[in-house]
Amino acid sequence: MTTLTVLGLETSCDETAAAVVRREADGRVTVLSSIIASQIAEHAPYGGVVPEIAARAHVDSIDGIVARALSESGVGWDGLSGVAATAGPGLVGGVMVGLSFGKAAALARGLPLIAVNHLEGHALSARLADDIPYPFLLLLVSGGHCQLLEVAGVGACRRLGSTIDDAAGEAFDKIAKTMGLGYPGGPALERLAVGGDPERFPLPRALLGREGFDFSFSGLKTAAARAAEPLTTEADKRDLAASVQFAIARQLAERTQRAMTAYAEAHRGEGLRFVVAGGVAANQAVRSRLEQACVTHGFSFHAPPLVYCTDNAAMIALAGAERLALGLIDGLDAPARPRWPLDAVAASANPTHVPGRKGAKA
Ligand code: KG4
Ligand code: ZN
Repeated sequence: MTTLTVLGLETSCDETAAAVVRREADGRVTVLSSIIASQIAEHAPYGGVVPEIAARAHVDSIDGIVARALSESGVGWDGLSGVAATAGPGLVGGVMVGLSFGKAAALARGLPLIAVNHLEGHALSARLADDIPYPFLLLLVSGGHCQLLEVAGVGACRRLGSTIDDAAGEAFDKIAKTMGLGYPGGPALERLAVGGDPERFPLPRALLGREGFDFSFSGLKTAAARAAEPLTTEADKRDLAASVQFAIARQLAERTQRAMTAYAEAHRGEGLRFVVAGGVAANQAVRSRLEQACVTHGFSFHAPPLVYCTDNAAMIALAGAERLALGLIDGLDAPARPRWPLDAVAASANPTHVPGRKGAKA
């Protein structure tokens, strides 16, 4: 195995991102550049991501973002070993922009293409900064996904549980919207919660003690909306924000602890590692709650640096490099996939775990 230098492209939601990542033969990883152009300002007036606006914005900015990523990395096209692009799941108009760009670049430069599952990018993101061996238990919590997975390697994720309604980030965003906070709601709600009383508003504990490792946030969302209605003062809102954050973090930790018990049983005598990744992993209350769970259950705790929690292309480049090292490359006919479960077996065996009308999203 040799050193691999991969250009990553990410366009599945509202961030246009490009990055260059170097992976040494011994697995050491260096992020040479990571450029992220957020479209938040373009979507904010609508209170959420508008797919058509997102796709157009990706088209407008992708070539400039890629040029910056290459120039900041000090690596030219000739120094690359491959091009990795997110091929799903996500807003398909945006996915097509990055994937088509990646295909064109691969063809023009004679480089291999790696079509990366965005969720695999999140799954590996903690390895950008920390040498975490496989296997590990992963909580993937973002705006579109909320799942517990056993990650045994690239292309080897087994889903243990998933949300039966909203994702954790979606719950943060929707509740923040009913409270009149800006988009994206998660960071806004975290800022408001500072100094608030997390026990002022008792919110439901969904699935508490229930078998399995699934999540549910719809009851919490309804209860929070009801509690928000009569509130007028900043202090009241601060208490509600703190209570919502507390309730979400508590459920994430409770369900994760069940999974830790089962995982530890199955991996007796091995090192126990836990990773939290995805946008919601940026939340300090969520992190510290999970860190405590790790102490209780004898797991080491890992989370990507904050910049690699939310969507970025460095994680896509890393997933691409790890795939390339194993010879896993894709043809130029690789499809853009709006839905693409990481664990296809679990998703089709248990479709109730995958919200959405058009089949398995995650
Ligand atoms: O991973 P990500 O950037 O995109 C998806 O793949 O979904 O995650 C975005 C989600 C949004 O729902 C956002 O509100 C949430 O992550 N988020 C947070 C925080 N930062 C981002 N939620 C709570 N606290 C935060 N600090
Ligand atoms: Zn994401």
